[in-house]
Amino acid sequence: MSDITIAVDGPASSGKSTVAKLIAKDLGLIYLDTGAMYRAVTYLSLKYQLTTTEEILARLIEQPIRFENTSSGQLVFLGDEDVTRVIREHAVTQNVSKIAAIKEIRQALVAIQQRFGENGGVIMDGRDIGTVVLTGADLKIFLVASVEERAKRRFKENQAKGIETDFDQLKAEIKERDRLDSTRKESPLKQAEDAILVDTTGISIETVVKKIEDLARKI
Ligand code: DC
Repeated sequence: MSDITIAVDGPASSGKSTVAKLIAKDLGLIYLDTGAMYRAVTYLSLKYQLTTTEEILARLIEQPIRFENTSSGQLVFLGDEDVTRVIREHAVTQNVSKIAAIKEIRQALVAIQQRFGENGGVIMDGRDIGTVVLTGADLKIFLVASVEERAKRRFKENQAKGIETDFDQLKAEIKERDRLDSTRKESPLKQAEDAILVDTTGISIETVVKKIEDLARKI
């Protein structure tokens, strides 16, 4: 089981990272959150007010993205700066689709992701894992849920974190991010032909995890 490669793609807030982290723990796989990488680059461009792709890529060489696994979860760093929390902030979420649409940025991040996955034993989540990053993955999952349900989940998460949120605005933003991510020219969000569609609307996380683990065990 330990050298299996699993790709999990799907729209914003469909539960990909929650599900992927649990599967990684159960099956002894390394988890890579590729969305966090696009978020980290977005944070970098906002923080230093970088306006060109060249400037962003140069800064990324100075401050490379790193992940650190700790007992309290996976931390994301840019060089020595811990950006785990700040990359989840509204300003980053609002701008990330724009950065993720830039071809050269995608090429740089995809190369890192492919190196990460080359020896197997990984589960990666994102938008283009099954279609671009790990086209030969042993198992490809396309995780979806209704916009209403995704907005409700995110709303609850925000409430738990003490972040005040307007539900309708949240729903509109999720819809807009889906639209941008699935209509962009470079590697748009879409289901790979050989991916298995899993609709999580009205289904518990535990049930979704079990379903995917059963599929993985059959391989
Ligand atoms: O999964 P997330 O919401 O943290 O992802 C943030 C953004 O990054 C998302 O709007 C689209 C982009 N993304 C991408 O284009 N390709 C990936 N493999 C992962 C994320």
